[in-house]
Amino acid sequence: MDYKIGGEMKVIAFNGSARRDGNTAILVNAVFGELEKAGIKTELVQLAGKKIRGCTACGKCFEKQNNRCAVKGDIVNDCIGKMLAADGIILASPTYFADVSSEMKALIDRSGFVAKANQDMFKRKAGAAVIAVRRGGAIHAFDTINHFFSINQMVVPGSSYWNIGVGLAPGDVHGDDEGIMTMKTLGANMAWLMKKIQE
Ligand SMILES: Cc1cc2nc3c(=O)[nH]c(=O)nc-3n(C[C@H](O)[C@H](O)[C@H](O)COP(=O)(O)O)c2cc1C
Repeated sequence: MDYKIGGEMKVIAFNGSARRDGNTAILVNAVFGELEKAGIKTELVQLAGKKIRGCTACGKCFEKQNNRCAVKGDIVNDCIGKMLAADGIILASPTYFADVSSEMKALIDRSGFVAKANQDMFKRKAGAAVIAVRRGGAIHAFDTINHFFSINQMVVPGSSYWNIGVGLAPGDVHGDDEGIMTMKTLGANMAWLMKKIQE
């Protein structure tokens, strides 16, 4: 479990792509650049290659109410600890069959259920979705992630477009100027929002 030090603010991001340093990671780093300029600490957790499974619907999180998932042996409880310790949460995913990756959906279901079982424990943290896409389905993936933020009473900053970057091969999103600009604007707005929430 991570703990907050002093008044320093932090954003934790999770990359749901199977490719560690692909387009989704590049987009997250564009958001991070603006957050860091505003003095906000950042950390990227790559789900690629890590063990992560879906919700078993055991309901133990509602019985125990200890901010933890009863399913052990994968990274979800570490991720929940990092979410709790952060002021802002970015959930980033490539578009897979017009939705988020299975790894990202597992993180959403598990951490989301634990949060609901524990008085909406991510309440009033800032939350932002970041999506990489080759061609179609990005809005649906974007909506999937925003459903997590809204049901958890989180606050979502906007940007100049929906938070989408276009590319197929790793690095292609560098060629999507509007996508990169959207991420930078998102980062600036997320920093602004987090400072307002902290006031
Ligand atoms: C299993 C799988 C499904 C995909 N489904 C879609 C899709 O529905 N729509 C789309 O535009 N691109 C789709 N793609 C392409 C990726 O979204 C695209 O390459 C993206 O840039 C990958 O991001 P990454 O480099 O972070 O992994 C798919 C890729 C994979 C591996």
